[in-house]
Amino acid sequence: MTAPRHWSLPLRLLHWLMAALILALLAVGWSMTHVQRDLGTSFALYQWHKSYGLLVLPLLALRLLARLAPTPPPVEHSRLERQAAKAAHLGFYALMLAVPASGWLMAASSPLALPTRPFELFTLPAPVGPDEALFDRLQLLHEVLAYALLALLALHVLAVLKHQLVDRDGILRRITF
Ligand code: HEM
Ligand code: HEM
Repeated sequence: MTAPRHWSLPLRLLHWLMAALILALLAVGWSMTHVQRDLGTSFALYQWHKSYGLLVLPLLALRLLARLAPTPPPVEHSRLERQAAKAAHLGFYALMLAVPASGWLMAASSPLALPTRPFELFTLPAPVGPDEALFDRLQLLHEVLAYALLALLALHVLAVLKHQLVDRDGILRRITF
């Protein structure tokens, strides 16, 4: 069977949907922790962040399923570049799991003991109870992982720019419509 020229349609849709979602989560996450607001707005932003942050998990599960379909072959490049691309994509998958998972555990361990209700639909199970020391560590972990995701995104975009402008191999076309 010949390898496809594009990533599958479900994977392309999920790539851009999740990219927009993750960028919004990074921006709202930063803003809600760095910009002073009234209590009501601040609370609403935290709820938005938690609901949409958790949405990353089912989307990730769908994306892993979509990944089972045949993928386009690696573009003609040095072994090092091919391995770097593979490692970056693997890193994205690990972070798309670890960032929301650490957020979930952080919210559950918060000494405020507020239940998390995604989109006001149901109460999220809390795998851990309120614990201030654990909360402090998970808060730091969530922050470090979220900014590691941002750093990887910066590298990813630089790599795409190199492909487009230097190698001119039209790699963007493989994941667009
Ligand atoms: C947080 C945002 C993003 C994440 C997590 C992400 C993640 C990924 C992953 C994991 C892949 C491999 C295919 C897959 O398994 O889906 C991929 C491919 C790709 N991404 Fe992104 N991406 C993001 C944003 C972007 C942006 C903003 C651009 C455009 C500048 C972009 C351009 C591409 C291109 C061109 C490919 C295809 C690479 C190839 O054909 O080998 N991505 N991305
Ligand atoms: C891919 C998904 C997510 C991304 C990219 C993300 C990103 C961020 C960022 C950038 C911050 C600000 C960190 C700082 O500068 O201190 C933050 C804070 C926070 N996130 Fe997330 N997050 C995600 C998912 C979640 C989830 C699923 C939850 C909980 C259910 C959550 C709960 C929180 C909370 C409570 C804070 C504030 C912590 C504090 O008060 O210092 N996040 N997030």
